[in-house]
Amino acid sequence: MKLFTLLIYYILLIIIPTNAMMSLRKRPRGFVIDDFCKRSVNKLRSWHGPGENLKVEYDQNDDDDDECLVRLFPSNPDHNYHTQFSYSCFDLSRHRKMFLHVKYSGSDAFTISLYQNNGACNPFRAPFPGTMDSVEASRYTTDGGGDIYVPLSHFYIDLKRASSIAFHGFYKDEETVLHKVEIVKHLPRDVDVPRKLPTGSMVLTCKRPNSFAFGIDDGDPRLAQKVMEILDDEDIKVTFFVVGQGLRDPSTNLTEVYSEMIEKGHQVALHSDTHPRMEGLQTEDEIDDEITGGQHALKDLLGIESRYFRPPYGTIGARMRQRLAAHIDDPYIVNWSVDVEDWLWANTNEPWRQLKAFRRDIDRGGNLVVMHYLTWNTVKYFREFIRIAKHKGKKIMRIDQCMMDPDAPDLMSSSENQETKMLRTRPDAKPKNEESIMSPTTPKENYPQQIHLTSENIYLELTYSPLNTTRILAQINSPSAGANILFLGTTRDTFENRPVSQLSYTSYAPLALKTLTEIARATFRDHEGIKGVSISHRLGVVPVTEASIAIAVSAAHRGPAWRAGEEVLEKCKERLEVWKREEFVGERPEEGEWRANRDTDSRGRAVKSS
Ligand SMILES: *[C@@H]1O[C@H](CO)[C@@H](O)[C@H](O)[C@H]1NC(C)=O
Ligand SMILES: *[C@@H]1O[C@H](CO)[C@@H](O)[C@H](O)[C@H]1NC(C)=O
Ligand SMILES: *[C@@H]1O[C@H](CO)[C@@H](O)[C@H](O)[C@H]1NC(C)=O
Repeated sequence: MKLFTLLIYYILLIIIPTNAMMSLRKRPRGFVIDDFCKRSVNKLRSWHGPGENLKVEYDQNDDDDDECLVRLFPSNPDHNYHTQFSYSCFDLSRHRKMFLHVKYSGSDAFTISLYQNNGACNPFRAPFPGTMDSVEASRYTTDGGGDIYVPLSHFYIDLKRASSIAFHGFYKDEETVLHKVEIVKHLPRDVDVPRKLPTGSMVLTCKRPNSFAFGIDDGDPRLAQKVMEILDDEDIKVTFFVVGQGLRDPSTNLTEVYSEMIEKGHQVALHSDTHPRMEGLQTEDEIDDEITGGQHALKDLLGIESRYFRPPYGTIGARMRQRLAAHIDDPYIVNWSVDVEDWLWANTNEPWRQLKAFRRDIDRGGNLVVMHYLTWNTVKYFREFIRIAKHKGKKIMRIDQCMMDPDAPDLMSSSENQETKMLRTRPDAKPKNEESIMSPTTPKENYPQQIHLTSENIYLELTYSPLNTTRILAQINSPSAGANILFLGTTRDTFENRPVSQLSYTSYAPLALKTLTEIARATFRDHEGIKGVSISHRLGVVPVTEASIAIAVSAAHRGPAWRAGEEVLEKCKERLEVWKREEFVGERPEEGEWRANRDTDSRGRAVKSS
């Protein structure tokens, strides 16, 4: 055993120091990041490869490292090729006076970006990447072409947290060939580097502790009113990124809508003039037109200016950033760290996946949202998004406020607004949860009344139909559950020794659904490892042997599942706004009376109702 350990120790001693000393010796003089001689890793043994379906071809020559290369065949500016330093953070800071050298051939119509990881140096936290800064490759190519030298200091990122180098922002459908990527200590004699052009800051996350911001891109004018209503009800402020063309379009009333939004205290910011992939435009003039066109629309039609910009399609490249920074002092290019993926799910039969995406990104630490109001399928989840964020204890605000921008309106003023809002009674105020709230005289045909909080795995129902246990058990089913319990409360044939013919239930649906929601949420809070909760109550006549209530709970382990199931039942008996009436054999129906549900305890002993 000991000998074996010793042996390994010696082997390590032989292998590691030589490698380490080599890199120690080499590092100050620069080092090779990638020579493209291996298909999936670079010289640092980190991943390299294409994203976004970029077509590539490798030429790999085992005998001669200098002859390896990768050919890129881009056809849009989102195509990218990354060569990675590390999945965590790679410290480039002691090379800050050195140069990135790229040996290439073919087109130089692209962007080179240096990516920075997030604060946790963890690719599974959001945002990933943390940010990046970019240079326009063609500004840095040597006279004859073939080489690009960029001072590392031209990338305004935290060099201690470098994660990868990316080649992207291709604006011509021309082949680019990469031969080598390295860090070098000196520039060749005849090479000059241009000055750094400002590129603004690309932000994916809020700065203010515990803040959270919705960055909402243009949508369907017909849904704007609905969005405004939700924002009013939930009393939050957000940021809208607005396309100039939409404001000018006389067939929409977006100008009125956004004027009203501004008046209500929301932020309105730039989203280009006609919504193209700006980095893909051929000339700087075209890029300029997108910026100034959007600016003029905001200025002329809404009377505002903004240095917050959301790039159409999230497409970002060096030329677009440089032009933006030429027109706007210190622009913020606002990307995101929470993507509800409306573009992916809103028009499928699984629109609830937007909630899942939202929850996933918040759980990873994201706090700056991208979403659109293009379809009702997204807007209908907006309240739920807001609720999830609030539930996490986040404070929702405009993007300029979450960036701690000194020019942003004071956060205090929004709570003042809250107060004036409460003083100003709104006779037409809509209830918060309009989809589930109905009048006490809710007609029977409006049932079943359901609340399905799929993201929380909570299913609630009030129905006049027999309870379907197959469906109820399917709702709470979860791969991480080891215990699934189902409780059915059924009508007995006797009550206090008198024969019962049937039971009848009635309910005040708006309150009952609210109470059920509270009970279900408390289950997750108060018991360990709960995976799903479903509570269904039947209303109307429930014959003997049939179920009036079904409670299903799934949990990792059976103990908490049993206990939670019992607790849910007792709480329902105690609190739920459901009343019952027994009809006894030999008695006329009208002689029965409505009583509170809780007339016996769990052992069948009578309890006084309060
Ligand atoms: C915009 O038009 C819609 C109808 O198309 C209308 O309901 C809404 O009130 C208008 N909004 C504003 C702010 O004028
Ligand atoms: C924008 O943010 C998303 C989500 O964090 C990220 O996947 C994407 O790479 C970012 N865009 C660019 C151009 O870096
Ligand atoms: C109960 O639900 C299951 C699953 O949703 C369904 O297949 C079945 O037809 C339902 N049964 C009744 C009687 O509605």
